[in-house]
Order: sequence, then C-alpha cells, then structure tokens
Amino acid sequence: MLDELSHIGRDPATNGYIRDAWSVSDLELREWFRGEAARRGLDLREDRNGNLWAWWGDPSRAPGVATGSHLDSVRQGGAYDGPLGVVSAFAALDVLKNRDFRPGRPLGVACFTDEEGARFGVPCVGSRLLTGVLTPERALALTDDDGDTLADVLTRAGRSPRALGRDDETLGHVAVFVELHVEQGRGLVDLGRPVGVASAIRPHGRWRFDFRGQANHAGTTRLEDRDDPMLPFARMVLAARESAAKHGIVATVGRTRVSPGNANAVPGLVSAWLDARGAREEDVRAAVAELGDLAEGARVSEESWTPVVDFDVTLRDRVAAVAGSEEEPSPVLPTGAGHDAGILASAGVPSAMLFVRNPTGVSHSPAEHAERADCEAGVVALASVLEDLCR
Ligand code: GLV
Ligand code: MN
Ligand code: MN
Repeated sequence: MLDELSHIGRDPATNGYIRDAWSVSDLELREWFRGEAARRGLDLREDRNGNLWAWWGDPSRAPGVATGSHLDSVRQGGAYDGPLGVVSAFAALDVLKNRDFRPGRPLGVACFTDEEGARFGVPCVGSRLLTGVLTPERALALTDDDGDTLADVLTRAGRSPRALGRDDETLGHVAVFVELHVEQGRGLVDLGRPVGVASAIRPHGRWRFDFRGQANHAGTTRLEDRDDPMLPFARMVLAARESAAKHGIVATVGRTRVSPGNANAVPGLVSAWLDARGAREEDVRAAVAELGDLAEGARVSEESWTPVVDFDVTLRDRVAAVAGSEEEPSPVLPTGAGHDAGILASAGVPSAMLFVRNPTGVSHSPAEHAERADCEAGVVALASVLEDLCR
C-alpha cells in the first residue's frame, strides 16, 4: 500500500512529499482511501469536517474501536508520517480477517483531514473541528498562501463549509482510538525495540508574529531613514533559541512570509511562525511571553495551543502488554510531536498510540524512514491490540 501511494505528491527533485489538505494530491489520497475501504467491503463515511471513516460493523448501533492517522504531509515531508498509520490500520484489519476474527464491536479505520496544518497554519484541523476545540468560524476564515480561505477551498472541493463543527454523532461512534505512527525521534533506536507505546504528548503551540515596517527602496533609502521589520524579526529568532535553552524547551521558526518579497526593497511586513514545545506548559508559556515582550511592536497571535496529553494509563499499559508481552511489554515513551490521537484524548475519548522505530530518527523530512520488518511488526502489534479491544 505504501508503494501504491509513493508517487502521490512526490517532488522528484527531493523525494519529499507535498500533500497539502484539499490539494489535488490530497484528493487523490482520499480517493485511494475510499478504494481500500470499498475493496474490503467497509462502510465509508465522511464526517461533517471531512474526516474519513471506514467501518467494519455499524457504529451507530454500538460505539466501536477506531484506528488510523492522516494522509496529508508537511511540505517536503517523508513517506511515513501519517500514511504509515492509515496503511497499517487497513493491514491490521486484513490480519484479523485472515485470523477469522469476528469483532465483538465495530472496528473502524480513520483518516483525519489536515493534520499537519501545512496549508492553513493550524494543525489537526479535522480532529479539532470534530471535537469542537476549533470553531468553524475561525477555521473557515483561515487563509492559505494564495489568500484563499478554507471556506473557498472546501467549496471548490465540493464540500459545504456550513457543515463544519463539533460532531457528536461521529464522536459517539468512537469508544476507543488507537493511532499507529512512525517514531519521530531516536527513542526506539536507542532502546533497540521495533515498536513502542506513547505515554504523553508534550504541550505545544504555534504563534504568528507580524513585524510591520515601511517598504522602501534598497538603494536610495539611507540606513537612518529605514523602518525595516527584518531586524526585529532576526532578533526574535535569535532570542527564541536563547529563551528555549534557558527554559529547557524547544522553539523553532520554520515558516516566514516576507512582503512584498523584493530583493531590492526593504520589506513592509515580515510574518514568522514560532513553534514552541516542552515538557512543562509553564516553561513554554514563559518563553513565548518573553519573546512577545522582546518583539514589542509586533502583533502576536496564538494560532494553536495543545495542552499536555497524558494518555490513559490503564489503556496504555494494556496496549503495551498486548503489543509486546506480559513479561516484556512494549516500551512506553513520550513524544514532542502532535497527533490527532492527542486531540481525541483531550476531548475524553480513551486513546493510545503505537510508535514504529525510525532508524534515522529524522522526521518532517524525506530522510524519515522505517524498515519493512518494523512496519510489519507494527501491523502485527496493532492487529493484536485491536483484537483485544474488540473482544
Ligand atoms: C505534527 O507532526 C507536529 O507535531 O507538528
Ligand atoms: Mn507530522
Ligand atoms: Mn503525523
């Protein structure tokens, strides 16, 4: 299945993937998902917010166990972040069918919409809308680099913007959610184990800093006459690194927009997105507050905030015992990456995550990798976990 997807949205120059939400590539991936559901005789539903659900059994009668992830990507991302969880979900169902297992309750495969937020800046849009932590008004007004709103983009994709919002009917279908994901660090490499289980997702957020100045000619404007927003922006980037080190967190400026973007003009506006994460919310908040004070004059807006997610301990330990064994459970480790499973967990849906070893430890990059044997170990572990939860 990963091979079937390998050409979709791939940049041949880098082997990185560009799979923005609702782009042509994303629509092709969604079609692929529908095809896999149909091939297995699963009941395909698209919820109010564009998330796809393929059910074995009818979750309207009794809530079921859902598993899955997302198919969109960061720009120039790897092949596994997202797709591994969706592909493994279908593969785990195949394993269970081969075992002649009949689920005692409905079993579903999920594909969440716009997990990465590559296009509109806010991550986990599908699960945030589903659970109501993102309002439809705010979501619909988000704009992409072309100035198109999510409302415009949805309309063009044949979806109704009016449908968006908290979806209790869909949430009511999910008694438990399990997301399998490629590991995005070297935790499992260091432990020498192919599969692990998540303990927690560290608190994280994104802030947009808009530095305004006066656009002007690069050759004729004297230095003392300039109001150049690039300078406070540069100070903020350097300060972010220092502040992160001081507070024991990580902070990244990975996206900027310079307007109008002429090589021969002082810019009029520099927008920069700060991503900050850490083990403790108060450290992240303190660093961001410091940077806001330093960037006095900039307009700072919080684009997203995800509080710490501590996964349900009973479920986590049960998953670790089934994915590994009673004597040697799968290792349990935290992550600094955000996931739809975290959004569902925060909304009160018992959730768990499985991680598959990534030998490079690199993610959000074409260098992200998982060995075939480890992917298969992940599928077998996921199948056993689903079997256990569906009994
Ligand atoms: C998603 O991968 C994120 O952690 O930003
Ligand atoms: Mn990601
Ligand atoms: Mn992901």
